[in-house]
Amino acid sequence: MDQGTPGELAGRHILLGITGGIAAYKTPDLVRKLRGAGADVCVVTSAGAQQFVSSTALQAVSGRAVRHSLWDEAAEAAMGHIELARWADTVLIAPATANCIAKLARGQADDLLTTLCLATTAALVVAPAMNVRMWQHPATQSNVALLAERGAHLLGPAEGEQACGEYGPGRMVEPADICKALTSIDPGQAVLGPHATDPADNSLAGVNVLITAGPTREPIDPVRYISNRSSGKQGYALATEAARMGATVTLVSGPTALPVPPGVKRIDVLSAQDMLTAVESQLDQTDLFIGVAAVADYRVAAVANEKIKKTASTRDGITLDLVTNPDIIATVAATAGGPITVGFAAETHKGLEHARGKLERKGLDMIALNDVSDQRIGFSSDANALTILWSDGEQQVPMQTKAAIARSLLSKVVELFNPRLSVRSPTP
Ligand SMILES: Cc1cc2nc3c(=O)[nH]c(=O)nc-3n(C[C@H](O)[C@H](O)[C@H](O)COP(=O)(O)O)c2cc1C
Repeated sequence: MDQGTPGELAGRHILLGITGGIAAYKTPDLVRKLRGAGADVCVVTSAGAQQFVSSTALQAVSGRAVRHSLWDEAAEAAMGHIELARWADTVLIAPATANCIAKLARGQADDLLTTLCLATTAALVVAPAMNVRMWQHPATQSNVALLAERGAHLLGPAEGEQACGEYGPGRMVEPADICKALTSIDPGQAVLGPHATDPADNSLAGVNVLITAGPTREPIDPVRYISNRSSGKQGYALATEAARMGATVTLVSGPTALPVPPGVKRIDVLSAQDMLTAVESQLDQTDLFIGVAAVADYRVAAVANEKIKKTASTRDGITLDLVTNPDIIATVAATAGGPITVGFAAETHKGLEHARGKLERKGLDMIALNDVSDQRIGFSSDANALTILWSDGEQQVPMQTKAAIARSLLSKVVELFNPRLSVRSPTP
């Protein structure tokens, strides 16, 4: 078993909560890596976890007694659950079952782990692992969204082959990657409590922000279309955070299952052409434009008025002619007197090179590069990681929730472009 990079987590007090998923078998390796990176690790297991990994192994690698019961007289007399909650600067739950995530979302406290999660002000880091259908279930998705909303850091799940034989998002992020992610998460934040945004952060007050999000749908006939896997989550997170920072936010959204963020005006569209029309209708009152939508590059040249049927002439296949869609972000950036324009680039290879090329070619003020080859931050994930590029600089934003990513990106926009934003939106 590899150990983490020495010193990266020196001085950190990590409480590792293990719950009852098959990925629990990887946790002795995770403990080794955390300790190898310098962290002090205390393990708490749920009743389910004990079916998958032995306390003896965890005790041997952590160097501490493993805690599993709230009703442990000896432990409660010494480092009881409140002391444990105070000791930790980070509560890492890996693997986190659908059940545990549901309990955390509800604020339930029916075992040691969930009780101390309510009692702690440590950063909460959750690495979900479960069957793909359990992960995609609306109950799990809304529980995860609620945790992210409250400031929890979500790592994964990763996409791939599952123990149950299915394929999709649901695998626990690998121990080495969890270890790495912890180095960029500030310990000791009050989470599962007030939202992590500084309530006094009004740095976008008076600024009109226009955001596009989600996929577009390009019709083939009245019942079929071409689309992509964008969930809209990052764009919605940006809309939520911009509104929290005092902006007047309009969200032009392709079809998603997400609710309208509080205080945000949403315009629903389907195709790229509809999206461009909606964006252009808002441009003269926009100070900051952020194009996050995954706009289809092509559309079907001749959309059939009636459903295409299988007939003698189509039985062996049909050919669809595609034409190029309008480039929404380039159109916005080229508008005389237009807004500050921020784009997103989803790349699978040579990301930095392609993103900087796009920044310059399209005349953007800033671009956020998403490495979509990294399965931990896939389309359905609540986590993301970015590299932000602008004319003479770049900055990495490490893997964290899409809400936290949104805050970092908006803060950078304010830092770099505040003079221009203030000129465009003078305080009344
Ligand atoms: C063989 C087996 C594997 C399981 N794997 C998972 C899993 O990967 N993720 C999950 O959410 N639940 C999984 N479950 C179901 C949980 O163990 C079950 O929901 C349990 O109540 C979780 O309790 P806990 O969250 O307190 O650990 C599995 C159950 C079995 C029997």
